[in-house]
Amino acid sequence: MTDMPALSNLSAIDAAHHLHPFSDMKKLNAAGTRIIDRAEGVYIFDSTGRMYLDAFAGLWCVNVGYGRKEISDAAYRQMQDLPYYNTFFGTTTPPATLLAQKIASHAGGKLNRVFFTNSGSEANDTWFRMARVYWRALGKPEKTQVIARRNAYHGSTVAGASLGGMKWMHEQGNLPIAGISHINQPYWYAEGGDLTPAEFGLKVARELEERIEELGEDNVAAFVAEPIQGAGGVIIPPDTYWPEIARICRERNVLLVSDEVICGFGRLGTWFGHQHYGVEPDLAPIAKGLSSGYLPIGGVMVSDRVADVMVEELGDFYHGFTYSGHPVCAAAALENLRIIEEEGLVERVRDDIGPYFAAAWKSLEDHEVVGEAESVGLMGGLQLAADKSTRRRYAKPDDIGTLVRNHCIDNGLIMRATGDRMLASPALTISRAEVDEVTDKLRKALDHLRDTVRE
Ligand SMILES: Cc1ncc(COP(=O)(O)O)c(C=O)c1O
Repeated sequence: MTDMPALSNLSAIDAAHHLHPFSDMKKLNAAGTRIIDRAEGVYIFDSTGRMYLDAFAGLWCVNVGYGRKEISDAAYRQMQDLPYYNTFFGTTTPPATLLAQKIASHAGGKLNRVFFTNSGSEANDTWFRMARVYWRALGKPEKTQVIARRNAYHGSTVAGASLGGMKWMHEQGNLPIAGISHINQPYWYAEGGDLTPAEFGLKVARELEERIEELGEDNVAAFVAEPIQGAGGVIIPPDTYWPEIARICRERNVLLVSDEVICGFGRLGTWFGHQHYGVEPDLAPIAKGLSSGYLPIGGVMVSDRVADVMVEELGDFYHGFTYSGHPVCAAAALENLRIIEEEGLVERVRDDIGPYFAAAWKSLEDHEVVGEAESVGLMGGLQLAADKSTRRRYAKPDDIGTLVRNHCIDNGLIMRATGDRMLASPALTISRAEVDEVTDKLRKALDHLRDTVRE
C-alpha cells in the first residue's frame, strides 16, 4: 500500500475515525486496537510482529486458510476482464452464473437456485421477504409470522437482528420488528434441568409446534435456525432435535430455513450443516465460507418448492443489491470452492482432522473447570463450569469467558468466548500439530482460570 502511515500511528488514527462493530468504543480506544497486517495458513501476525494461531478462522469464515494466492489471482484476473456488472436488467456475468450452478451442485436435493447478496445479514433479510412473498403468491397472504430461537444470531440488519434472539441486540433499535417471535434453544447444559439430552431435544423442538398452535398454522410462514447455533456459543443440539423440527415444519406446512452462514462449506464435515443432521430446508442463507472471507459475498439457496412459485407465479421480486452476484466476489468464491473440492477439505473434516480435533477437544473435559467440550467437524464449544458434578455455572459468565479468552490471546491463540463458553472454528486446513497447539494453549488458559478464580 502506498502512503501508508507508520503502523504505530494507526491506532491513534483508528481511535479518531473508525467505529468498530460490536465494540464499546470508549474501552477500545483506551486499550488501543490490535493491528493485524499479515496472515498465512492458520496464523495471523500483528503490527508488532507477534504471531497468533487463529482458531476462529477470522470470523468463522476463512475455511481454506490464509494466503491462497490462487484466490487473489482469480479476483485480479476477473477485475481486469470485467470489474463490475449488475444482474438486474436481464444480464448476468459468467462467474455469477457458474457460482450459482456450483453451489447448487453441492447443496444436492431440491436447493437448485441461488439469490446472491453481499453478506449473511442480507441473506437473512432476503429469505425473510421471499418466504412472505411465496405464501402471498400461493394465495395465503396472512402466512407472515416467522419463528426463530432465543440466543440465535442471524445478522445485524433490521430483519437479521430481529430474527436473532439476542435481547441485548433487540434493546438497541426497538427490535424485533413485528411478525417475529422466538422459542427456546436446544442448550441442554444450561437449560436441560433433569431431562436427558434426548428428552430435552424433543421438548424444545416441540415448542415450535406449540408456538405454531398459538399463532395459528395459517399465519406462520417459516421457522429459522442455525444447524448449530454459532455466535450463541456453539450450542450443539441433541440428536433428537432436528428430525423433530423437520417433522413439525412438514406437517404444519411451515417453511424450514437453515441458516448455513457458519455451518456451510465444510465446517461440519458436510457441504452444508443441514446435511449433517439429515434434514432438507426450503431456504438456506449462506455467506462466510462461500468465499472463505477473501471477498464479501452471500446468498440464499432456494428450493424448487419456493423457486418454482417465484418463477411461475410471482412476476417481479422487488429485491436485490447493486452487488448481487458481484463478478469479482463470485470469481473468488468459485476459486475457493475449487480449492475445497480439489483438496477434499469436506472429506478431510469428516474423516481425518474433524475426528482428530474432536478427540483433542474432548480431552479437555478432564479439566476441573470444564463442564463439557463438544464438537462437530471443526466447530467446538467448551462449557466452563464452577462445579462440573452439578453443572453449576460461574456467577459471572461473561467475565469468566473473557478471562480465558484474554489469556489465550496473550499466549498467541485467537479464541472467542460467548459468556462462559469457549468457541473454536479453525480453518479446514489446520494440521494435527496445530490442533494440538490450540488445545495446549487453551488448557493453560483453563489452568489460569482454576488458579485465579475461586467460586
Ligand atoms: C448464523 C449467522 N447468520 C448470519 C450472520 C450474519 O452474517 P454477516 O456478518 O455476513 O452479515 C452470521 C454472522 O456471524 C451468522 O453467524
